[in-house]
Amino acid sequence: MSRGTSFRSWSLRPVVLLIWLVGVKSQLTTDFYNTSCPGLLSIVRKEVQNAIKAEMRMAASLLRLHFHDCFVNGCDGSVLLDGSDGEKFAFPNLNSARGFDVLDTIKTAVESSCSGVVSCADILAIAARDSVLLSGGPTWKVPLGRRDGLVANQTGANTRLPAPVDSLDTIISKFAAVGLNVTDVVALSSGHTIGLARCATFSNRLFNFSVNSGSDPSLDATMTSDLQSLCPVNGDGNKTTALDRNSTDLFDNHYFKNLLVNKGLLSSDQVLYSGDSSTASPTTKSLVESYASNISLFLTNFANSMIKMGSISPLTGSKGEIRKNCRVLNSS
Ligand code: HEM
Repeated sequence: MSRGTSFRSWSLRPVVLLIWLVGVKSQLTTDFYNTSCPGLLSIVRKEVQNAIKAEMRMAASLLRLHFHDCFVNGCDGSVLLDGSDGEKFAFPNLNSARGFDVLDTIKTAVESSCSGVVSCADILAIAARDSVLLSGGPTWKVPLGRRDGLVANQTGANTRLPAPVDSLDTIISKFAAVGLNVTDVVALSSGHTIGLARCATFSNRLFNFSVNSGSDPSLDATMTSDLQSLCPVNGDGNKTTALDRNSTDLFDNHYFKNLLVNKGLLSSDQVLYSGDSSTASPTTKSLVESYASNISLFLTNFANSMIKMGSISPLTGSKGEIRKNCRVLNSS
């Protein structure tokens, strides 16, 4: 390439970037269903309210389902598809992801009001927002217009979703792979301000943690012994405990306050504050401190990061389909 061509292509880059950004931003819109399904938001709100009234934990389960949807093939409802080769059977979801029946109930209610119009992926994004709001967290306008994917990706769910034993660098790179930055990592990890986790997901911190230490030194000693009783060696790995002790169902910044005193339940939570050799750890540590002391900064950043996460690779226009039943493709 000549110098001139190379200079021209560089000078065009901001323009190309701007067009790309405008294109990405305009793919989803908050008024997408205003005429085609005007009652959508109130139908979803009412059904999420009913589900949470029956079981408070459902708010957490719906929020997590949206996250697991978006990180694999983009927010396309792929996590909702049934089938042993689907995402439901991937390691992070098996015996773990929940809320599928609630999605069915919401979808049925939406279909009876506006049939064949609203995607399962959009319903999940709205249900996640409502779950946060009804747990005492922030609200935001959900960009809409996603269509449902035609394939599930079990391998993607196994490899692209962050694991509780991942290092900070690995977590950051899994977020970066879907266009999310370090601020998003810290803000969104606070999804763990609500909900439960199974012994199997943190018991590695309790016994034989390393050659020198029986348990993880970055886990509070009293909490360690409580958890050792709950999750003994060879015990039931499906037993659960709160991700955010003493503020289990409330969407607040208590999650970050826990991290300051070594009370993060998962290793992937505590590593945001206690760090490892990662060069990113000073950044995540100072974000944890800011969010622990400034709840409004946290709530604003969380809402912004949710909008970013909800905008990962949506299918729009004529791509994908509007599933009639969130569990199966229309063609099956
Ligand atoms: C940073 C990387 C993350 C890791 C390693 C991680 C890992 C986990 C694990 C291991 C559990 C417990 C699962 C079980 O018991 O089977 C869990 C639960 C949960 N996660 Fe995450 N997660 C991460 C990020 C997120 C994000 C970004 C959100 C949402 C914004 C989220 C929301 C939740 C919620 C609400 C629960 C509780 C679900 C329930 O009670 O049903 N997590 N997570």
